[in-house]
Amino acid sequence: MTGRILGISGPTVSTGLKGLKLYERVYVGHALLTGEVVRLHEDKAVIQVYEDTRGLAIGEPIQGVGLPLTVRLSAGLLSGMFDGLQRPLEKMRSEMGPYITTSREIAAVDTMKKWRFHPLRKPGEEVGPGEDIGYLEEDSFRHYIMNKTSARQKVSWLADGDISVNDPLGGFENGGEIMGHINWPVRGARPYRNKHAPSLPLVTGQRSIDFLFPLAKGGTAILPGGFGTGKTILEQAVAKFADVDIVVYTGCGERGNEMAEMIDEFLSLKDPWRDRPLTARTILVVNTSNMPVAAREASIYTAVTMAEYYRDMGYHVLFLADSLSRWAEALREISSSLEEMPGEEGYPTYLSSRLSSFIERAGVVETLSGKVGSLSMVLSVSPPGGDFTEPVTQACLRATGSFLMLDTSLAYRRHFPAINWSQSYSLYARDVADHFETQFSSEWTRLQSWCRELLQKEESLREVAEILGAEGLQDADRLLMHVAEMIRADFLCQNSFTEDAFSTPEQTFENIRGIRSFHDQADAILKRGVALEEALRRARETV
Ligand SMILES: Nc1ncnc2c1ncn2[C@@H]1O[C@H](COP(=O)(O)OP(=O)(O)O)[C@@H](O)[C@H]1O
Ligand SMILES: [Mg+2]
Repeated sequence: MTGRILGISGPTVSTGLKGLKLYERVYVGHALLTGEVVRLHEDKAVIQVYEDTRGLAIGEPIQGVGLPLTVRLSAGLLSGMFDGLQRPLEKMRSEMGPYITTSREIAAVDTMKKWRFHPLRKPGEEVGPGEDIGYLEEDSFRHYIMNKTSARQKVSWLADGDISVNDPLGGFENGGEIMGHINWPVRGARPYRNKHAPSLPLVTGQRSIDFLFPLAKGGTAILPGGFGTGKTILEQAVAKFADVDIVVYTGCGERGNEMAEMIDEFLSLKDPWRDRPLTARTILVVNTSNMPVAAREASIYTAVTMAEYYRDMGYHVLFLADSLSRWAEALREISSSLEEMPGEEGYPTYLSSRLSSFIERAGVVETLSGKVGSLSMVLSVSPPGGDFTEPVTQACLRATGSFLMLDTSLAYRRHFPAINWSQSYSLYARDVADHFETQFSSEWTRLQSWCRELLQKEESLREVAEILGAEGLQDADRLLMHVAEMIRADFLCQNSFTEDAFSTPEQTFENIRGIRSFHDQADAILKRGVALEEALRRARETV
């Protein structure tokens, strides 16, 4: 089926080609650019083109593929680096040079590479939809091969040995082949049995997060902050140190050199929780500011579908995106070239519903095979001018469970991570408290409340001190301010470029407990009538 381009508007083109379906994938122009049908009228279809539309001309051919835009799910994705359409960046660069000229199909993964297959079933056994048939050894992971059909099947034969992704791993009695790969439509969430409430902490190695605003596996968090508040550095720190099995990191519309530096760094690091290179658990999806804007819109779906695939094997998966605002801007650009009625600040009226249905793909699930897997999200948001009332931040706020507000004035004072401790929150704090108490210390929650209250009191004392001067305060209050300063400088601040970048929950706890006992010592000495400076000196000697 071939038609012609009738019109071109920014990243979209229109055609009179009949018979196209909504969200069908199409090839656009002589260059065979990849596009997706986003709107159907009686006599016209509008296509969002995922590559540079410059150079396209009216009258060039349009061809429907008959299938939606899909992601290929198989072994070989880990350590990979893909563009928004899941094309392997390195391979593209080596085959086409720095300028991607056509959308020639390039397999997402190495189809020649062989993986060891271990069957978990025997011929004659039945497997339900989504249930495990066997697994491939994908480096240190068991890459489970599930029954990808939607029916119960009887296994007729199974391979045993080294197999590449395009070879069958076995067969069903009805004649169907068991393949190690599947093409999954990016816009459709992958199925699961049930969703559970999050209860396990997602340790990030960042003291201010883990202690004050803990995240949960299967939970969602946003990091909104103005320019230079440390969003990218924090996203990367979480990607490096989180205690999860798999990390899918999406560089979305931000600077390319930052991604390049991150890749270099990741190559030299180890997974802090297991003995393996950090890259072995990481998938990167890169759609930086210099790459086509429509592919940026697709990139988060491509990435989250891969994340869900590993969740379905029973893994804890973390999805990060930097930044969701750039994704929303891509959505706005596409919407405006479609001449849709604009909503707030020019964003389409469906911004909020799109965002929340995307964020809903996170969660703790019972998989079709009865395992428990989780998909967590940590998303940065870049509100223009640091204004948190703008539509993207607001839409994200409503859909997520943790709000880690990055504060321009903290960043200006070089307090990093610049998480504002009085305005941020995490709705998971209570859900995961049990775990911290039983795994690390029964004092965890008590210490947490102490720390929060102290920081709060300090804020009001600071107002008083501004009027009266520090000398106008009682010694006990001056002690409190001194301890708050210790908490800020030695506990909440964490320089990502030093050894201190990663703090285990044990270290985090010991650190704050040390500050607490210093406070208690000094307080006891003060109460004996000793002057503050002397009390601080003596407390320093004993702790
Ligand atoms: N945790 C951190 N430790 C040390 N420096 C940091 C940290 N976070 C941010 N910075 C400093 O702030 C700069 C801006 O951070 P970045 O993450 O690029 O901001 P954003 O992405 O919000 O624009 C970094 O180049 C670095 O100098
Ligand atoms: Mg940034």
